[in-house]
Amino acid sequence: MANKNLNAAKTAKKDEFYTQLTDIERELQHYWPHFRDKVVLCNCDDPYESNFFKYFALRFNQLGLKKLICTCYNGSPVQGNELMIDFGDFTNDPKKIAYKVEITEVKDLNGDGAVDLSDVQYLLKNDKNVCSILKTGDFRDPECIELLKQADIVVTNPPFSLFREYVAQLIEYKKKFLIIGNQNNITYKEVFPLLMKNQIWLGYKSGDMAFKVPDDYEPKETRFWQDESGQKWRSLGNICWYTNLDHNKRHEEIDLVCRYSSDEYPRYDNYNAINVNRVDDIPCDYNEIMGVPITFLDKYNPEQFEIIGIDRYVEDNPNYGHRFLLKGKEVYARILIRNKHPQTI
Ligand SMILES: C[S@@+](CC[C@H](N)C(=O)[O-])C[C@H]1O[C@@H](n2cnc3c(N)ncnc32)[C@H](O)[C@@H]1O
Repeated sequence: MANKNLNAAKTAKKDEFYTQLTDIERELQHYWPHFRDKVVLCNCDDPYESNFFKYFALRFNQLGLKKLICTCYNGSPVQGNELMIDFGDFTNDPKKIAYKVEITEVKDLNGDGAVDLSDVQYLLKNDKNVCSILKTGDFRDPECIELLKQADIVVTNPPFSLFREYVAQLIEYKKKFLIIGNQNNITYKEVFPLLMKNQIWLGYKSGDMAFKVPDDYEPKETRFWQDESGQKWRSLGNICWYTNLDHNKRHEEIDLVCRYSSDEYPRYDNYNAINVNRVDDIPCDYNEIMGVPITFLDKYNPEQFEIIGIDRYVEDNPNYGHRFLLKGKEVYARILIRNKHPQTI
C-alpha cells in the first residue's frame, strides 16, 4: 500500500502545477450563467491548496451554486500540515491522505475578503458542509466516479500527464466541464475529433500561464523563477482552456480581410488544399479546403467555419496521418477547414 502511494506520488510529481486565482477569475467570468443551481466538482484539487476550491467557495452564493465538491488525491506532495497520515515503517515521508470536502452552504465568510486555510475550517464548522476520507482520491476511482455522476460541471486543472484519460472520462459520463490543458493536446486523437464535431471547444484565454510549483521542483534555464518569498514558479507558453460550456467568444466571427490568389496560397504537394500560414491571412472568398495553424481553434466560430480534419495523429485513418508538404518541406501542424459562407464577389 505504502509503495503504491509512493509510486503514485512519483508519477504525480510533474503534474504539480498550481493555478493562480487570477487566471481562474479571468476565465470563469465568462461562464457565470451556467453555474446557477449547479453541483460543481473540482476533482484534482486539495481544498487547502487549490484556488479552484477558493474561487467557488468565495463565489458560492454569487454564482448560486447548489453544491461544491472538491477531492484531494493522495499522491499530492505535502504542502500544508493538515490531514496527514504517516505510513510508519515504510517511509519517513508522511503523505497526505485523500479526502473530499462537500460544501452546500456558505454563510458570510469571515470578512477578511480572502479565503484561506481558516476559511476551509470555518466552512466545515457548518453542519451542512462535510469533510470525509477517500480511498485514493484518484479521479478514476469508483468512489470519485460516484461524485462525478452527481456533478453538473467539472472545473479544474487536471494532471497534465493524464489529460487523455481525464477528458475521456468526462465525455463518457456526459459532463459539462471547463478545464486547463496544453495546446498540444488539440492534436491528440482522443481530443481532436471532439473539437471537430463541436462537442468541445477552447475557452477564452490561451497562451502563457504561470503556475506555482512545489519546493522540490528542479530549477530550469527558462520559464522558471523564485519570488521574494522563495516560492518556485514555472510558466508554460501553450496553455488553454477546454470546455463544452457555451460562451460568447465562439460566436464572434473572424474578420477576414484577405483575398485568395494562387500565388499567395500554394497547394500542398500531397493533399488537395491550400496552405494558410496565419489565421489573419485566411482568405474571405475561398470555398474549398484550407490548412490553417492549430491556433485557429482559439478563434473558431462553428457558424463561420467547418472543421474537416487535421494533418496528423490518426495512424489508422486514411484521411489523416500524413504531414503536409509544401515544395517538399513539411509544414507545422495544420487543421483543415472550410468557410461556410465565403464571399462571392
Ligand atoms: C496540474 S495540478 C493542478 C492542481 C489544482 N487543480 C490547481 O489547479 O491548482 C494537477 C493535480 O492533480 C493531482 N493528481 C495527479 N494524479 C491524479 C489522479 N489520478 N487523480 C486526481 N488527482 C490527481 C496532482 O497531485 C495535482 O495536484
